[in-house]
Amino acid sequence: MDTESLIKEQIDFYRELAGDYDGQVYDQEHWENLANTIMKDCPHVGSCLEMASGSGLWTKRLLDYADSITAVDSSPEMHAISVDRISDPRVSRVTADIFNLELPGTYDLVFAAFWLSHVPMERFEAFWGLIAKSLKPNGRVLIVDSHAVGPGGGGDTRHLTDGREFTIIKVNHDLAELGKRLDTLGWDVDVVATTSNTYRVLGTFK
Ligand SMILES: C[S@@+](CC[C@H](N)C(=O)[O-])C[C@H]1O[C@@H](n2cnc3c(N)ncnc32)[C@H](O)[C@@H]1O
Repeated sequence: MDTESLIKEQIDFYRELAGDYDGQVYDQEHWENLANTIMKDCPHVGSCLEMASGSGLWTKRLLDYADSITAVDSSPEMHAISVDRISDPRVSRVTADIFNLELPGTYDLVFAAFWLSHVPMERFEAFWGLIAKSLKPNGRVLIVDSHAVGPGGGGDTRHLTDGREFTIIKVNHDLAELGKRLDTLGWDVDVVATTSNTYRVLGTFK
């Protein structure tokens, strides 16, 4: 499948999954532990752009660290769950495809959870260029995602509870390689494993 079709199918998959997302993806205790580890590194900022904000699990935590959050996701269904979860005027939500995003502004922090692995390698450089453009001077990026050991990159098959099958993008970044790649693109980042299958990226654009 070509990249454009994969991006579209990935958007469709998460729209369909939205109602089941939290229940399927998160073991509460595991998630809390991970969130506590990640948020220890989160700076206190004025404005935050959250990419692929989903059902708002991380948005809610980010409110302890940011005066305002612009949460971008392509799924109105995910945003609706986020609205149910968080009723706070400091959060504004934008429904948009990140790969065709008109930047709503510039921010002190760009945050993304479980999104980088869904960025196809062909779009990696453009995606990081978008983050660089989104940041105010001295702004920071904080990313958390999962990775698996072994070769990674390309399509991954997922199923909904009704059996429908979707192919989405899942890139397993090698952490050393990811750090080098970002350095080449002008980033000063620290990439560390947070658990056996998750990592975080924290840094600035040089
Ligand atoms: C794995 S979920 C992560 C959600 C949330 N960050 C979390 O960790 O709970 C991926 C999210 O990316 C969104 N998404 C998928 N493709 C997208 C695109 N092209 N542009 C914006 N959001 C997209 C989905 O709707 C979904 O909410």
